Amino acid sequence: MTNIPLYLAPLAGYSDQAFRRLCKDWKVDYLVSEMVSADGLIRDQDKTLTYVTFSEEERPYSVQIFGSDPLVMAKAAAALLPFRPDFIDINMGCPVRKVVKRGAGSALMKDPALAAKIVRQVKSAIPDSVPLSVKFRSGWDLNSLNYLDFGLRMQDAGADLLCLHARTSSQVFSGLSNWEHIQILKQALSIPLIGNGDIDSPETAAKMLKDTSCDAIMIGRGALGRPWLFTQIKQFLKEGYYQPITKDQILSTALTHLDYALLYKEEYVVVREMRSQLCHYAKGMPGSKELREKINHSSSVDELRQHLRHWLLH
Ligand SMILES: Cc1cc2nc3c(=O)[nH]c(=O)nc-3n(C[C@H](O)[C@H](O)[C@H](O)COP(=O)(O)O)c2cc1C
Repeated sequence: MTNIPLYLAPLAGYSDQAFRRLCKDWKVDYLVSEMVSADGLIRDQDKTLTYVTFSEEERPYSVQIFGSDPLVMAKAAAALLPFRPDFIDINMGCPVRKVVKRGAGSALMKDPALAAKIVRQVKSAIPDSVPLSVKFRSGWDLNSLNYLDFGLRMQDAGADLLCLHARTSSQVFSGLSNWEHIQILKQALSIPLIGNGDIDSPETAAKMLKDTSCDAIMIGRGALGRPWLFTQIKQFLKEGYYQPITKDQILSTALTHLDYALLYKEEYVVVREMRSQLCHYAKGMPGSKELREKINHSSSVDELRQHLRHWLLH
C-alpha cells in the first residue's frame, strides 16, 4: 500500500504544463493531459497541439483524447505517437453538454458496443509499448449503473488499465462518489484499476485504498491550490502521519506556479488563467474573499505576486 501510484486527474482549464510540473515537484507519479479532441488532433490545429505538448520531466505522461468515431479516434491516437506519450487515455466520462451531444465522453456509456469498438481500433493503431487506458463513470444515471459490465467490456476490447470516477454522468459533480463501485469493479477485473472521486486529504486517500483495494488513485479537485497533497499522501501511507503545510510553503508554491506559467504562456494569458488557480490556494483560509477580489482585478503578474505576499505574510 505504501508505493501506490498517485495520478493527477485530467482537469480541463487547470492541468496545463505549469500545474503538472508543480505537482511533479510535489511527487505525483503520473500526469494526464487535459482532454484533447480527436477531431482537432487529426486536423492538426495549433491550439490542439499545445494540449499534447509536454516536457521530459513530466514523464510518465498520458494524453487523453475524446471523440465518438472509432476511425477518427484511431487516427488521433496514431497522430500522438510522434510526441512519444507513455500512455494514451480515452475519455468516456465527461458529462459536459458540448462533448456528450457529439456522442463522446460519458455518452459512450450508453453505447458500450461503440465504446468497445473505439478501444479495439485505437489499440490496433498504437504499439503495445504504449498502454491504453479508459476513464469512465459509474453509468449514465442512477437507473443505468453499468460500470461493471462496461469496465469488463473495455478490458475485453483491449484496454490495459481503467479509471473509474464513481459518479454517474447526470450527477456531474454533485453528491458523493460511491466507492463501492470501485471495489466491485476491482474484484472483477484482471487489469489494474485507478480509483477516482472525492479524495481531498491523506486520510481519504488511505480510506479509498482500504475500502476498494484499487491499484492506484487519481486526484483532481483536491489538488487544486494544494499540489503538496501528493507528498502528504505519500508520507501518510508510509509513516502514518504527514507534515502540515506552512504559510511560507503555500506562498512559495503559489509563486512558483506563477513562474512556471510564465515559462509556457504570455503574461496576459497567465494573468487571466491564473486567477482561478490562485483563488484555490486561498480557499477556506482567512482573507480569501479579499484576496479573490484583488486577484480578479490584477492586470500583471507582479501585482498577483504582491497580493499573494500581502495575503500570506500580513
Ligand atoms: C474543472 C474540471 C475539469 C475536468 N476536466 C476533465 C478532463 O479533461 N478529462 C476527464 O477525464 N475528466 C475531467 N474532469 C474530471 C476529473 O478528472 C475527475 O474525474 C473528477 O474531478 C473527480 O475527481 P476529484 O473528486 O478528485 O476531483 C474534470 C473535472 C473538473 C472539476
